[in-house]
Amino acid sequence: MKLGRLNHIGVATPSIADSIAFYRDVMGATKIHTPFDLEEQGVKVCFVDTPAHSTGSGLSDSGGTQIELIEPLDADSPINGFLAKNPLGGQHHLCFEVPDIAEARAEFEEQGKRILGPTRIGAHGTPIFFVHPKDMGGMLTEIMETPREDAHWSN
Ligand code: CO
Repeated sequence: MKLGRLNHIGVATPSIADSIAFYRDVMGATKIHTPFDLEEQGVKVCFVDTPAHSTGSGLSDSGGTQIELIEPLDADSPINGFLAKNPLGGQHHLCFEVPDIAEARAEFEEQGKRILGPTRIGAHGTPIFFVHPKDMGGMLTEIMETPREDAHWSN
């Protein structure tokens, strides 16, 4: 597999509203997207942009790695267990881009990595799957097909 860009870091939170205030007021985030429900995954999601380049570099500040805030939608949410163990929330998963999701999945399967569920459409509207943390050095890992267009940067 060819490792792609670190698209986002998934951060579980008991309150997206509180986390938005934190990233805005403490961390100085200037681009915070509108939260939305991702019913299939049982979570409310909010993306916070980090710039691709540091301020003053003269380079474009779009296209940086995002923070994906995730809050349980209900009592059945798959992240409730994580929040029970980590009441403050915290780092939940990493998401790397790949050029071809089917090829990446086949390669993980060949290596005996445990893939969690089917390939499905993720929060960016592109196909994703998750790989078990026990096969990934302790890190729940999301693999995401690189968006054909950066549509999500403009919302
Ligand atoms: Co994610």
